[in-house]
Amino acid sequence: MSKTYLENIYVENFRNLAESKIEFSKNINCISGNNGNGKTNLLEAIYYSIYKKSFRKNTKEDLIYKSDNENYFVLKTNFYKEGKKFNHSMKIRDNEKQIYVNNQKNKRLEKIKSVPINPYDSHLFYANKKMRRDLIDNFISDYDSIYKKSLSHFSKALRSRNSIIQKYIGPESEFLRQIKVYDEIIAENGQVLIKKRYEFIKELNPILEQTFKEIFREPIDLKIIYESKFSKDVNKSEIYNFYQSDISKDRMVKSTRRGIHLDDINILLNNKYCHEYGSIGQQKVSFLSLLFSYVGYLQTHEKITPILLIDDISGELDSLCLDNLLKYLERKQVQVFITTANEEFAKRLNNILGSKHYVIDQGNITELH
Ligand SMILES: Nc1ncnc2c1ncn2[C@@H]1O[C@H](COP(=O)(O)OP(=O)(O)OP(=O)(O)O)[C@@H](O)[C@H]1O
Ligand SMILES: [Mg+2]
Repeated sequence: MSKTYLENIYVENFRNLAESKIEFSKNINCISGNNGNGKTNLLEAIYYSIYKKSFRKNTKEDLIYKSDNENYFVLKTNFYKEGKKFNHSMKIRDNEKQIYVNNQKNKRLEKIKSVPINPYDSHLFYANKKMRRDLIDNFISDYDSIYKKSLSHFSKALRSRNSIIQKYIGPESEFLRQIKVYDEIIAENGQVLIKKRYEFIKELNPILEQTFKEIFREPIDLKIIYESKFSKDVNKSEIYNFYQSDISKDRMVKSTRRGIHLDDINILLNNKYCHEYGSIGQQKVSFLSLLFSYVGYLQTHEKITPILLIDDISGELDSLCLDNLLKYLERKQVQVFITTANEEFAKRLNNILGSKHYVIDQGNITELH
């Protein structure tokens, strides 16, 4: 399997980054610099070039360099995928996106995968059920277009269902007729989501266990579970009947109280919930293992080599884990961008054969030789 990697990027007016073109290593790229100098911004620019959106919640205007006279940013990237070179070029204004792929206007972006890894998301993951569901939905949607489509139809139908539950005024029979239409869409697409979530989690578990042992070497059983009202083999009519029962109670609370949209995904440590039983450190490494195991899943099951964007991991792990992680990354044969504000860690990254090292100082990016 030949590697997918980013050869270079040109940035102009993106956040605080100075206009520059940067050549990357196809192996490990270390981006070091003090806090608030632009390390995460560079990862964000790379992510944006791949997905045409940010991994942070923000608007286009937030991404444009703040000044009195700039109202656009430009990102130009050259990628290699399956031995072929191609480029993405985008000029984004407040109200307009100009996208070129291989110099042709308005073509679809080449399908490249990237996995952003940020230890700070661990807190949100354990605190917020929706975050957990979104993470798994994003994982599966990124490689499975059928799942992505089903999720979109499902979510749209659920929103419409909730909207008429809240606002409908008129004959009861018409209300029930409309709910039926949405419940049919929910059942049809929900069945796809349930089946694919169960399958994904089943395949992910052995990789998760292995990754956790490889990097973190903890003598603990780690597992991810999907908690749903429904079994893997549920059929459409069961789902439909479930949503159709007790509509009057949904009406009373003005929302769809139960169903697939409230399913959960949890990490278990020695068969207990990680967020209740694990130490803060164990919660973080379990979460990171989950992200790294997804990378393993993409490689082994989907034959995809994603580009890893690892943001500031050094403060989170002890020195043995960091060494294991570096060995793991070298073995993985993926392109990695890893940021750090820790000079010691930067030096260790520097010693890896074939790695490149950049320093960011107030948005100015310099390659160290
Ligand atoms: N649109 C923008 N225009 C100019 N500067 C911006 C813009 N958006 C963010 N910044 C600046 O970018 C800097 C933050 O960059 P970034 O988040 O990449 O830092 P970092 O190097 O990752 O820091 P840390 O180590 O603390 O995570 C801040 O100084 C912020 O004010
Ligand atoms: Mg940062």
